[in-house]
Amino acid sequence: MRIGILTGGGDCPGLNAVIRGIVVQGKKEGYEIIGFKDGWLGVLENRWDELTEDDVEDIAREGGTILGTSRTNPFKEERGLERIKQTLKEASVDVLIAIGGDDTLGVANKLYQEGIKTIGVPKTIDNDLSATDYTFGFDTAVNIAMEAIDRLHTTAKSHHRVLVVEIMGRHTGWIALQAGVGGGAHIVLIPEAPFDIEEVCQTIVNRKKKGKSYTIVAVAEGAKAARGSKFLTREVVKEEKTDAFGNIYLGGVARVLEKEIAERTGMETRSVILGHLQRGGRPSAFDRFLATRFGIKAIEMVKEGKFGQMASLRGTDIVSVPLQEAVGKRKSVPVKLYEETAKLLWGK
Ligand code: F6P
Repeated sequence: MRIGILTGGGDCPGLNAVIRGIVVQGKKEGYEIIGFKDGWLGVLENRWDELTEDDVEDIAREGGTILGTSRTNPFKEERGLERIKQTLKEASVDVLIAIGGDDTLGVANKLYQEGIKTIGVPKTIDNDLSATDYTFGFDTAVNIAMEAIDRLHTTAKSHHRVLVVEIMGRHTGWIALQAGVGGGAHIVLIPEAPFDIEEVCQTIVNRKKKGKSYTIVAVAEGAKAARGSKFLTREVVKEEKTDAFGNIYLGGVARVLEKEIAERTGMETRSVILGHLQRGGRPSAFDRFLATRFGIKAIEMVKEGKFGQMASLRGTDIVSVPLQEAVGKRKSVPVKLYEETAKLLWGK
């Protein structure tokens, strides 16, 4: 049995721990493992390296991915499917394990429908993938964002300022919600619960009246105002273009809010965009362990012939679910959860 693996989409803490899990468990089963370079691009271009236990010995604690990654969509490339089939034949690959988010796993699912034996491992800091309770990378990102908010308290307090901190998560607010609540942000804004700028500013002013002359606003990059508002009725984009999977480049909502809040409240306001800091560096213990379990599970799935499926965390168990269940459906923050946590603590 010869297994090809790849990491696709944005890099994410824990990818290397999955790779180690796959290689160590795979070798135990007597399988050969090769790692394609730079996601689907490496499969299209037939670029790969054999992976040994020595190659993965020290990688689990490192962030990023030793294989490299890309946002290449093979179905948008000329003769994409044909080239993938050709590579798999030339490299004698029996099974392909794709480690990625919705986009990467969507390709794995389509390839499975084309007769290629694929298995998925769910990855994204955004935690927005359906059919798994958590994705690895999320816990690390939440902790980085929470620590950033912790640190912003001192400047906000000392200078009597409003600090708006922009947090990743594309169309979902999982990181902003958990980091915001954990870090003691006074206002948390997420895409799932469009906000009212009047209410936001009134909360800031009310805090000031009570002698609390500073406020921290944690805002998810995809947050926008409620319908009917004249302000921020759509997500703030960095550029009016999309990647090969049709994703827009979000970014800048904190700056827009900085200006608006300063104008409306008269308070000194600053914005901070955490950006890729949230995806960088070493994975948390939770992510290292979860990623390792996903890697080991992927090999078990190869052994059991569970193709077209994805490793998934359900409660405390790692199970397998059809890729079809995981792709194309975003796992959003339930508004009830937001209301019971962030909204309860609003302004406090
Ligand atoms: O999906 C992970 C993520 O970090 C999102 O939170 C963010 O919107 C996007 O990727 C950024 O993508 P890129 O690294 O391509 O700018």
